[in-house]
Amino acid sequence: MAKKAIFKCSECGASYTKWSGRCDSCGAWNSIEEEVPLSTAGPAKKTLGAMKGRSIPLTDLGTTEAPPPRTMSGMSELDRVLGGGLVDASAILVGGDPGIGKSTLLLQGAARFAEAGLKVVYISGEEASAQVRMRAQRLGLSHAPVLLGAETNLRDILTTLETEKPDLAIIDSIQTMWADHVESAPGSVSQVRAAAHELTTFAKQRGMAVILVGHVTKEGQIAGPRVVEHMVDTVLYFEGERGHQFRILRSVKNRFGPADEIGVFEMTGGGLSEVSNPSALFLSERGEPTPGSVVFSGIEGTRPVLVEMQALVAPSPHSQPRRAVVGWDSARLAMILAVLEARCGIAFAGLDVYLNVAGGMKISEPAADLAVAAALLSAREDAALPKDTVVFGEISLSGAIRPVGQTENRLKEAQKLGFSTAIVPNAKKDGDTAGMQTRTFADLTGFVGDIFGA
Ligand code: TYD
Ligand code: MG
Repeated sequence: MAKKAIFKCSECGASYTKWSGRCDSCGAWNSIEEEVPLSTAGPAKKTLGAMKGRSIPLTDLGTTEAPPPRTMSGMSELDRVLGGGLVDASAILVGGDPGIGKSTLLLQGAARFAEAGLKVVYISGEEASAQVRMRAQRLGLSHAPVLLGAETNLRDILTTLETEKPDLAIIDSIQTMWADHVESAPGSVSQVRAAAHELTTFAKQRGMAVILVGHVTKEGQIAGPRVVEHMVDTVLYFEGERGHQFRILRSVKNRFGPADEIGVFEMTGGGLSEVSNPSALFLSERGEPTPGSVVFSGIEGTRPVLVEMQALVAPSPHSQPRRAVVGWDSARLAMILAVLEARCGIAFAGLDVYLNVAGGMKISEPAADLAVAAALLSAREDAALPKDTVVFGEISLSGAIRPVGQTENRLKEAQKLGFSTAIVPNAKKDGDTAGMQTRTFADLTGFVGDIFGA
């Protein structure tokens, strides 16, 4: 019989029979940990009762089951990202860089959920209760009926939760928690995993919702990332550029709602305020049309959002010209540059290229391709796009401009914000123009010739 592997890589999950400093499978250093079984108890007893071991036709599971009960916080940006409010007994992970505003967001959220009738316990492992109270005062939340605790020992926390029986527990942060049966320092992968496991299981058993706060490590992942992300129902990231006042709460996994939904907040001295019309905010600093600046009509989650794509193209003093991107994928930029060169004969050799999504937004939609190409060309030719124009469309390697989803929503949002013309793919459907004038193109060559006369 093969010997059982007892060491696992916390990054990729590869198993080993002995410890080593580096994972052969994914190359991560110091990620291999001894696998300690969490429980020696037998299999859970309640495995579908009498149905155990039998397969059930999908149709027999019943379709009349009510949707899970939810509570709205009244902060609509937060509620939407959660998929329409907080689901009872769900487990949520909120990740983000240190100092980005997670504690502020969750303290405000805690207060709103408490006002909505939930019993909320906020446990801070990073600050003393007095500090949390001071923060609450600064945020104007000192009257909110939230119970505060400053604890890091998991056993003490579970005891508190056992006696208080809250509807929602917020654990800030999971990296500061430690379980005394695990022999490693707080913040280590085994501690984070043990703490997250105990808290989420406890929450599911008692019908309590739990929000775990997690700091993101340098690589952009929460310590013990895969492990914690798998244990929870919903994973949210709180992101934003340090120099900007905008903060974006993004769902990357949600068992109870759409992933990729965003909520937009603005940082103020009195805490986070909701931004219900992000397009207006992201475009607010825009003046007259300038070369290199193009407005993209994008979809974030269920909502259209207009953002400005800015490009700068300049002769490069380096033998290897620079390609710098903020808020978009650099591989995708390289692809657009290659397509422009190969299909339209427009080369960027010897030119530095900078691309920036204004307002600290991050765009991952391929629908932004055409807007990026337009920004690059506009910067290169030093020619601004006509005023009040939005652009969207996906570019394929052949140079074709491919249709994207939700054309009508994109156009409607643009129209609402005072735009009159849209440069779009050759859409099949007509009549969905939402009162906008559309200029359609089937391929990049046609687009370049018509708009830039190149
Ligand atoms: P904090 O919520 O402590 O960040 P995190 O928990 O992610 O580490 O916020 C960091 C600092 O920013 C803190 O000193 C408070 C301040 N801040 C504001 O002044 N206004 C705001 O709207 C936010 C979100 C933070
Ligand atoms: Mg904090």
